[in-house]
Amino acid sequence: MTNKRSQPTTPLAVIILAAGLGTRMKSDLPKVLHAVCGRPMLAYVLDAAHDLAPARIVVVTGEDQDEVAALLPQGCERAVQHRRLGTGDAVRVGLEPLKAFTGDVMVLYADVPLVDAAFVHDLLETHRGEAGVATLTTVVTDDPAAYGRIVRDAAGRVARIVESKDASREERELREINVGAYVFDAASLRAALERLQADNAQGELYLTDVISLLLDAGDAVGSFVADDPEVCLGVNSRVELAVINAAMRRRLLERLMLEGVTVEDPETTYVDWGVEVGRDTVLRPHTHLLGRTTVGAASDIGPSTYLKNAFIGDGARVVASFCYDCVVSSGCSIGPFAYIRPNTVLAEGAKAGTFVEIKNSRIGEGSKVPHLSYVGDAIVGRDSNIAAGNITANYDGYEKHATHIGDGVRTGSDTTIVAPVTIGDGAFTAAGSVITQDVPPGALGVSRGKQQNIDGYAERKAARRSREQKDAH
Ligand code: UD1
Ligand code: CA
Repeated sequence: MTNKRSQPTTPLAVIILAAGLGTRMKSDLPKVLHAVCGRPMLAYVLDAAHDLAPARIVVVTGEDQDEVAALLPQGCERAVQHRRLGTGDAVRVGLEPLKAFTGDVMVLYADVPLVDAAFVHDLLETHRGEAGVATLTTVVTDDPAAYGRIVRDAAGRVARIVESKDASREERELREINVGAYVFDAASLRAALERLQADNAQGELYLTDVISLLLDAGDAVGSFVADDPEVCLGVNSRVELAVINAAMRRRLLERLMLEGVTVEDPETTYVDWGVEVGRDTVLRPHTHLLGRTTVGAASDIGPSTYLKNAFIGDGARVVASFCYDCVVSSGCSIGPFAYIRPNTVLAEGAKAGTFVEIKNSRIGEGSKVPHLSYVGDAIVGRDSNIAAGNITANYDGYEKHATHIGDGVRTGSDTTIVAPVTIGDGAFTAAGSVITQDVPPGALGVSRGKQQNIDGYAERKAARRSREQKDAH
């Protein structure tokens, strides 16, 4: 009987189970790589484990899951489960590289991604504060769904875990469920795993049976009753994936709000993990901040805005626009209905207005592209104005060419700029021009037919029409 109280100095190893097939996801992607707020769910569990600074972290994956292995940070070991025989077998596999290890082993499931650093610290502390050789995490929920049920004896002690599929009707009524986060004494766990049998509805080796095996052997088992009912949420189907995403998103938004960001409508605001937003920025409804997006302070984003890998400075305004892989500096104004594409930099105070598309370009300080324009592969200097309906014709059908527009340039409306071409500092272009040659600094580039007015035209046209109608009768 191993009934010794663990010491705070007891070494710790964490085993993360990630080899499951995720059959219910109906996906070619391993389940643990499905994204929760833009990040593979396994990454959250790895973070929590890492925060404990354990001596070892072993992640159990399938042999065909190199994509999962690719996600493992340095210092994390991979153990390969060749046949998915169940969670008990997966832990046995996870213990293989830990043969000589003595101490505490925490087991986490990679498909339960809301477990965070605070949670795993609390679990470990609970285990170390009690005399048992194992501590399992439970939560009391209104919807025990397909989770394993905790069966307690008359004295309220954990007696066993029964899987939903193996439970009797009364057991299925139980509201206390198994979260899937445990701490075991390594030697006790090894011994119990050897006695596991697959005599259950799924024909699997259940880790959950270890609990009753330990109790049968006279070992003490404790429980950590988590106070956050959401922590148990596991992902087995895409329906649950959506539930987890909503829960994680709410957490991320709450964190932003507590840091001084106004979120007008959290229900329709989407942020990925790792997105940063400065204080006094307002996020308006139907706004997405995805990937490695950063927004500065006192900016106004949305409504209906989609930012992905976008850097937005302070005091910027982005209305109903899409911005990807770009830099929008402080004081810029974007939209409504602008499309800012990769490798675009808007310098301070620049503007990209309504129905404006900008790609791979730099718009200088204070320069404006206010309406209905396409700017691609261009460098625009400072304080220039690109008038309505300007197009940089950057593609000759084979290659892309660059446009250079200097400082203080004023283009006329409906200028087509056929690249490669340079418009010098302080130059103008006339409205409706097709600019195919460089415009020197300070010059006006005009290229359009001269206007001619034909007097009396309307009258002559009307007379001709009435003659024609008469002839037809
Ligand atoms: C498991 C628990 C259940 C608990 C629930 C919490 C068991 C037997 N049941 O059920 O009591 O309420 O989690 O979410 O443990 N895995 C492997 N190899 C395998 C099988 C599974 O690595 O052979 C991994 C999966 O990738 C997954 C985790 O173990 O990350 C849990 O497996 P899963 O099949 O999802 O267990 P549940 O049926 O959800
Ligand atoms: Ca699961």
